[in-house]
Amino acid sequence: STDSLNVIKQSIQTIPDYPKPGILFRDVTSLMEDPAAYQATIDALVAQYRDHGFTKVIGTESRGFLFGAPLALALGLPFVPVRKPGKLPRAVISENYQLEYGEDTLEIHRDAIGEGDKVLVIDDLLATGGTIEATVKLVRRLGGTVEHAGFVISLPDIGGEEKLAALGINVYSLCEFA
Ligand code: PRP
Ligand code: HPA
Repeated sequence: STDSLNVIKQSIQTIPDYPKPGILFRDVTSLMEDPAAYQATIDALVAQYRDHGFTKVIGTESRGFLFGAPLALALGLPFVPVRKPGKLPRAVISENYQLEYGEDTLEIHRDAIGEGDKVLVIDDLLATGGTIEATVKLVRRLGGTVEHAGFVISLPDIGGEEKLAALGINVYSLCEFA
């Protein structure tokens, strides 16, 4: 409901000049410190994504775990982590992606996704979309289908929604900060 989306948005603190001068940092730690807002967040994602026929939920390290894992439990689905390099113990595949300065790598267990999987990708925040683009590529390389990505926060002025739309991804976010 509009009321619960307001509770969620108002629980997100904005910290000016973090991590750099001029940036307004939207901080989900204040949301998680408010149990009503955290519960409302998971409930809203359940309402959005139940009955889609997903077989797995993916969350991207680290803040994607904070929303993806409770959502997966609430939907009764397996949770699969996508992690920074060297953290996953079984055989992995890797994708490089661009950061604002330089690049980084994400990895997934090879045996975690297969043909026939319909995957929902969850993260706390959509900015450039680079993190989720890399995650989508990992899933598709393993034969999984991914057409939906859900976020607590979208920053619509940074171009991530367009980048993901070009990959055939439907984006849903609980709140936007323009
Ligand atoms: C942040 C955030 C998203 C990503 C969004 O993660 O949690 O995953 O950046 O940016 P993008 O849309 O431009 O890719 P970060 O890489 O800071 O890692 P963390 O979750 O471990 O803090
Ligand atoms: N908040 C949190 N994470 C982020 C942001 C932000 O405003 N921008 C890019 N990653």
